This record gives sequence, structure tokens and C-alpha cells, in this order.
Amino acid sequence: MSSSLKQINTATKLVRSYNLISEQMDKRRLNILLKSLEAVIDNDIEGDVVEFGCFIGTTSLFLRRMLDELNSSKTLHVYDSFVGLPDKTIEDASVAGSEFKAGELKASKRSLIRNFKKAGLRIPKIHKSWFRDLKPKDLPDVIAFGFIDGDFYNSIVDSLELVWPRLSVGGQLVVDDFMSSNLPGVTRAISDFFIGSDVKIEHRNNLAIVYK
Ligand SMILES: C[S@@+](CC[C@H](N)C(=O)[O-])C[C@H]1O[C@@H](n2cnc3c(N)ncnc32)[C@H](O)[C@@H]1O
Repeated sequence: MSSSLKQINTATKLVRSYNLISEQMDKRRLNILLKSLEAVIDNDIEGDVVEFGCFIGTTSLFLRRMLDELNSSKTLHVYDSFVGLPDKTIEDASVAGSEFKAGELKASKRSLIRNFKKAGLRIPKIHKSWFRDLKPKDLPDVIAFGFIDGDFYNSIVDSLELVWPRLSVGGQLVVDDFMSSNLPGVTRAISDFFIGSDVKIEHRNNLAIVYK
């Protein structure tokens, strides 16, 4: 089997086999995200896997399943305030107006753990904190793959500042809500963070895939 066919099959198999537990992710985006993770693992890129903004674990469950499916020893680290979104800033102003307020998307750490147990999956390393307050010890020294899903400008910039310097060459970052008119801070954060650099950024189905 060619490696590209294998990639399609593993991601697609997982996406088809399990239900999504919230509307925070859809199957098309999930398929793209998992293919990206699989490529990183197939290429033996050094480092662990991180998710910034894990909520109840909709996507985290699939990241774990992909690692298990590929017998990967990479550790999955997930990060969230577990008190919901922070305040918006001017960069997040959008036609959606009052949508996405501080405190929305609040999930408890316990609900995340419950969802992993229910799925029969190993519990990830869970970090409860505002992203900006995380210390170097809270992050793996080397990261192979990151999923960033913090919705707001400062949340994305804070995540990129933590993840990008630790990302291995050959690693990939996937950022949700890229080019979303409801969450304009995401696209602004990415363009401000990478301004002047020649990093390759692909846009697929409201995801940015950033290659190092
Ligand atoms: C869109 S939800 C994430 C959905 C999740 N990836 C999933 O698949 O279910 C955004 C999450 O990011 C968290 N978040 C946003 N900004 C944050 C910040 N600056 N620090 C910590 N958590 C943050 C929120 O608490 C919320 O749970």
C-alpha cells in the first residue's frame, strides 16, 4: 500500500468509526487534522503532541486514538483554562458581535477525564491554566505536532509563542478557525506571528496547517 493511501485510510477509518462528542469539530476538519498528525508520525519527527484549548476533548480523543493506532510512544498534552474563553480584545471584534463571550465553552477537567474513560483511552497530561501563565516545565521540551484551538487573538498568539520554538523541523501545527469571519482574531494572530517569515501555511477547510 502506498504511504499516501495508508494515510487516507487510517485517518478516515478513525473518523468513520467514532462519533464526535461536540460540535467543536467536524469530520472534514478532523480528517485533515489526523492526516497531518499521521504524516508527522510516519516521518519519525521527534517530540510530543499538544492541544491548546481542549474543552471536553472532542479532538483530543481522536489525537489519542491516532497515537494508539500507530503504536506511537508520543505523549499527548492538553491545555485549557477549564473556565472557558478569556475576554475578547479589539482584534477579535467581528460581525458576530456578542457571540463568543468570556466564560463560554467552559468545561470541567472532570468531564474531560470522564470522556477519556468512557472511550477506554489513556488519560492525557492535562494542564489547567491560562496559556499565558504556563511555565516552560508545563510543556514538552520538543513538540512534533500541535493543534491550537483557542478562538481569540491573544490565546492564539500565546499558544504560538509557547509551541513554535519547541516544534521540531518537519513538525506541523494545525490552527482551527483560520479565515473564519466569526473569529477574526485567529487569522490576525497567525499573520502577526509569522509576519516576515517564509514559513509555509496551507489553508484547508478553516484550518491553517503550518509547516516547520
Ligand atoms: C473552541 S474550544 C476548543 C474545542 C476543542 N479543541 C474540542 O475539540 O472540543 C476553545 C477552548 O479554548 C480554551 N481557551 C481559549 N483561550 C484560552 C486561554 N487563553 N487559556 C486557556 N484556555 C483557553 C477555552 O476554555 C475552550 O475550552
